[in-house]
Amino acid sequence: MAVPHPTAENCAVVTGASSGIGMALAEDLASRGYNLVTVARRAEVLEELAGGMREKYGVNVDVRGVDLADRGQRSKLAEEIAARDVAILCLNAGIATFGPLERLDPDYERFIVDLNAVSVHDLALAALPGMIERGGGGILMTGSAAGNMPIPNNATYAASKAFVNSFSESLRGELKPRGIHVTLLAPGPVRLDAPEPEDASLVDRLVPDFLWIDARYTARLSIDGLFRNKMRVVPGVLSKAMSAAGNYTPRGVMAPIVGGIYKKLGGE
Ligand SMILES: NC(=O)c1ccc[n+]([C@@H]2O[C@H](COP(=O)([O-])OP(=O)(O)OC[C@H]3O[C@@H](n4cnc5c(N)ncnc54)[C@H](OP(=O)(O)O)[C@@H]3O)[C@@H](O)[C@H]2O)c1
Repeated sequence: MAVPHPTAENCAVVTGASSGIGMALAEDLASRGYNLVTVARRAEVLEELAGGMREKYGVNVDVRGVDLADRGQRSKLAEEIAARDVAILCLNAGIATFGPLERLDPDYERFIVDLNAVSVHDLALAALPGMIERGGGGILMTGSAAGNMPIPNNATYAASKAFVNSFSESLRGELKPRGIHVTLLAPGPVRLDAPEPEDASLVDRLVPDFLWIDARYTARLSIDGLFRNKMRVVPGVLSKAMSAAGNYTPRGVMAPIVGGIYKKLGGE
């Protein structure tokens, strides 16, 4: 059956929908007529965005203020996902830190693993039985070009995204005969809008404007890719270059070069 069309009964779930790529994915799916369940910690931001989408696209939007790094909160959401008719699941929420691991807060690094990797695994597991029973569904996972290579000074993030990249592409092979699509979004730098100079992060300052890819374009490409059951969506020149470098350059050569760049992102 592949990815079901929107109906009054089914929905699309988007994690990390309060900003960036997740916000754009939610809007793209709403514009295609899907009822939504949007997830992030900031329920008030989700609620405001939901109001706009209900009005503009006439879809239902259920907001879930959930800390996906928290096992208890995550389990409740997983139960809801298992019980609902989820046509599309976008596992997108994720965060990064930069710098040598020894200088970073160990609790926050564990939080990143829980959010970026464990929550993706948990929620995919929750959605699977229903999708298999219904004979269709789509799972889009947001990994990263950073998951293709060892990255000193970004170790937890790169490893968590290596998990997502591999999990998505492995699961896709299993689910193809079941009519369930699984697509990996593995971007490089993506943002909704260029920030005002005073709000620019170190990453904004290090990556030239022309290399940033628009989040709305990325979302459209990703959902189109999911419908076609593309294995991997890699938007933009820098993402493609990072993917090629990660896949074809010996890892021992790659690590110190990339590590030097990410050292700057760690503030050194
Ligand atoms: N943008 C890029 O350049 C880029 C490149 C490669 C990969 N990616 C990946 O793409 C995904 C989205 O990135 P983005 O740049 O669009 O991120 P973003 O704008 O920073 O948004 C992150 C989203 O995740 C949510 N989130 C963070 N911690 C959470 C938690 N503990 N529980 C639930 N939700 C949480 C945030 O909402 P709350 O704060 O409200 O919880 C927000 O909605 C991430 O997985 C990221 O690693 C991004």
